[in-house]
Amino acid sequence: MRIPTIPCVIGHRGAAMDAPENTLASIREAHRQGAKMIEFDVKLTGGPTPELIIFHDDTLDRTTNGHGLIRDVDYPTLAKLDAGRGETIPLLRDAIALLAALELDANIEIKPCPGREVETATATIKLLQQHWPANKPWPILSSFQVPCLEICRDLWPTCPRGYLIDRRPDDWRDIARDLGATTLHVGHRHETATSMADYINFNLPVLVYTVNDPSLADQLTRQGVAAIFTDAPGRMISHYKSVAKPYQSRRP
Ligand code: G3P
Ligand code: MG
Repeated sequence: MRIPTIPCVIGHRGAAMDAPENTLASIREAHRQGAKMIEFDVKLTGGPTPELIIFHDDTLDRTTNGHGLIRDVDYPTLAKLDAGRGETIPLLRDAIALLAALELDANIEIKPCPGREVETATATIKLLQQHWPANKPWPILSSFQVPCLEICRDLWPTCPRGYLIDRRPDDWRDIARDLGATTLHVGHRHETATSMADYINFNLPVLVYTVNDPSLADQLTRQGVAAIFTDAPGRMISHYKSVAKPYQSRRP
């Protein structure tokens, strides 16, 4: 089986506190800090031959020296932008090569620009099926967009799928079952101890984003979450070691 082991600390957008988020430098930094798994976001560029890139926002303004909508810009133009400290916006296939070289596991979040859900998920699966190394544990694929996860389920049923939840709908359990979700990825900001317990009792590993406060990590871990996404994986790994918490790992 090529199911990845889930470590209790997952680097968010690489190591976003210490390197420009979602860049190859951020992936290298997460690895340097001791992360075993990282999360990053994938979307399609504009242009006549859209490319899959590692990028969070729908617009360029926050994280690059460019402006406007990603969906309006082709990859050759995007590749010339500064994504922070001289880094460029990576292609998904370049990130895969780096993950393989560093032996890092990954959670790939499919984050389509509005209206491009099916196109982005389909292109992501196709590229991963062509380029993901044969001997490497599969990535966990996740998305806030249910249509993206339906594509993952239908085109690559054996690859783990994380159902990402921001504000949970009433029928989240039915959605998770229908998707065949293997993990639940939950934001802590809109949850209470009770709602978090609902997820844990659903009996899938619960991964919580984005946790940079060690005391919150402790509280969530005591409650039974399997992992946290953090912008500072090295500091969180040191914290877990300092409180002598056993370094748990789970399988989705
Ligand atoms: O995948 C977990 C987390 O990254 C989801 O939120 O907005 O940081 O992509 P966001
Ligand atoms: Mg993300």
